[in-house]
Amino acid sequence: MKRAKITIVGAGNVGATTAHWCAAAELGDIVLLDIPEAGDMPRGKALDLMQASPIFGFDSKVTGTNDYADSKCSDVVVITAGIPRKPGMSRDDLLATNAKIMTAVCEQVKRTSPDAIVIVVSNPLDAMVQQAQKVTGFPPARVIGQAGVLDTARYRTFLAMELGVSVEDVSALLMGGHGDTMVPMPSCTSVGGIPVTSLVKPERLAEIVDRTAKGGAEIVSLLKTGSAYYAPAAATAQMVEAIVRDKKRLIPCAAYCDKQYGVGGYYVGVPVVLGSGGVEKIIELELTDTERAAFTKSVDAVKELVATMAKLV
Ligand code: NAI
Ligand code: 2OP
Repeated sequence: MKRAKITIVGAGNVGATTAHWCAAAELGDIVLLDIPEAGDMPRGKALDLMQASPIFGFDSKVTGTNDYADSKCSDVVVITAGIPRKPGMSRDDLLATNAKIMTAVCEQVKRTSPDAIVIVVSNPLDAMVQQAQKVTGFPPARVIGQAGVLDTARYRTFLAMELGVSVEDVSALLMGGHGDTMVPMPSCTSVGGIPVTSLVKPERLAEIVDRTAKGGAEIVSLLKTGSAYYAPAAATAQMVEAIVRDKKRLIPCAAYCDKQYGVGGYYVGVPVVLGSGGVEKIIELELTDTERAAFTKSVDAVKELVATMAKLV
């Protein structure tokens, strides 16, 4: 059977690190693509990664390019193209620039990889994935946003640190937009099967949720020259793996919700089953009144972002 072809558009920090995790896990052949202005940079990173293959023992081919012809007929296209957040910038400040970049990229993806499943990573995520679906015209199940896996991983990390237990034993779910309004789901969070509310006091849990919601900004304030990329790339690679290995992972992703949760035609973070068909199912949970109110607030923030974007592009 032929290896999957995975194109990563944007060979910057998140894109190159996603290529790194995907190659190490031998998920398929990888094409790292960036703009002509980036010159040989994607070729340099690809060659560097290829030279790690004998050490890691992967046979995936990694190539770098500035030409969409090299990405044609990809099975999965990951879009990380755009500018990252700088200190003092909110995700929303990125909106106008990245919406234009997303439009240009998706016109090329539509032309060269019409059957691909697209994973959008660029920020502001919930608006960018909506724009990607609109421009490609692909079925919504084939255009998915990465945010929930990262946000949930941050939450799980902080909970494991708090309790002094293995991250492997912390299972959690966050919903809503990739922003300050993300919605924790304590009823879906457990540690070794024990509900988190039995182990962490509500005030402390609220602090951990707050740190999670501001998790991206915390890294920006430490790095100073850009935003997080190791964990975002690991989260993206997990989504790629779910698709190319048809794993049917039940994970939170930004998925197109129409009737689901009464969202009415927007991308928002919800639990989905992710497999070779993309979003194969959206899991609809019974929300408590508090969760419902927080989710509605988060969806409203996404709608506002999309409305602002519509005026800018
Ligand atoms: P970066 O600046 O390191 O890389 C971005 C790359 O995109 C650059 O190499 C640039 O040349 C390229 N690019 C720009 N316009 C392009 C175009 N039209 N076609 C192809 N490539 C193009 O930035 P980084 O750190 O990799 O972040 C990328 C994006 O991912 C940002 O928007 C950032 O905010 C977002 N992000 C999203 C996360 C999420 O959880 N959804 C997490 C982390 C970052
Ligand atoms: C993050 O959460 C910047 O969205 C990015 O790290």
